[in-house]
Amino acid sequence: MNQSEYLKLLRLVRTAIEEYKNWDEDELVIDKSMQRTKIEQKEITKLNTNIKNDDQKLTKQGPIQMKKNINQEPIKNIQTKNAEQKLDDLKERIIGCKKCDLGKYRLNAVCGSGNPYADIMFIGEGPGFQEDHEGKPFIGRAGDLLTKIIEAMGFTRDTVYIANIVKCHPMKNPENPELKGNDRPPTMEEMQICQPYLDEQIKIISPKVIITLGASSTRALLKTDDVISSLRGKFTEYMGIPLMPTYHPAALLRNPKLKKDVWQDMKKVMALVNRKG
Ligand code: SF4
Ligand code: URA
Repeated sequence: MNQSEYLKLLRLVRTAIEEYKNWDEDELVIDKSMQRTKIEQKEITKLNTNIKNDDQKLTKQGPIQMKKNINQEPIKNIQTKNAEQKLDDLKERIIGCKKCDLGKYRLNAVCGSGNPYADIMFIGEGPGFQEDHEGKPFIGRAGDLLTKIIEAMGFTRDTVYIANIVKCHPMKNPENPELKGNDRPPTMEEMQICQPYLDEQIKIISPKVIITLGASSTRALLKTDDVISSLRGKFTEYMGIPLMPTYHPAALLRNPKLKKDVWQDMKKVMALVNRKG
């Protein structure tokens, strides 16, 4: 909740309390519920004092300190179960999905991994050989580099969320999933068919920022044919969430000079995440 939403809520509660106080005795039902009313009145007086204190602190301190004054933990705890469950339900559906041909040949659907409440969500292209074999995203060489980038940003793989634009392994020769060097980028059609799953993941996780890794996921989400070198480094939006496109870690393995560009992009992401508290 941001400062203005909080103040609005305070005002609403205060108005309700004022109205409650202004009630005449004869407007209250004078029987057993009278007892309840006294207890409620005590609670309300207590609440009112807390609100006044919070209000004063808010006016003095501004939004950053305000966050510290509001204990948001219980809300987070209630949500934790929901998001985990929702992601599990979605996973079940993805595992059974055969909406496109990739589903016919994959060994494992790769749904995603990480924190269901992550602030940062990385979106890659699609599972490769190793990911297809183990059912987890970004575990090959490109994955190791992604892990390093995440850690350099001050996070871990468990605190962010990692997913792909398609959940099944796109193969040049789909008849042979045991063949190495058989990876290919997903087609626009495959990405479009699979994208609703990603949209659901984004909705459930509701990250503060999305990072698309490479041309495939960037172009699919932003609906553009532009090259990644001109798209990267600039925030746009997807589903109302800031989106930062950057190079795919596999591109960095081929051309390490691009690493400094990715780091520039990640610094912008870190600044945004910190700003959003
Ligand atoms: Fe379904 Fe996506 Fe796999 Fe295609 S790639 S079969 S749409 S989960
Ligand atoms: N490349 C991707 O885009 N995603 C993976 O999961 C692995 C490699």
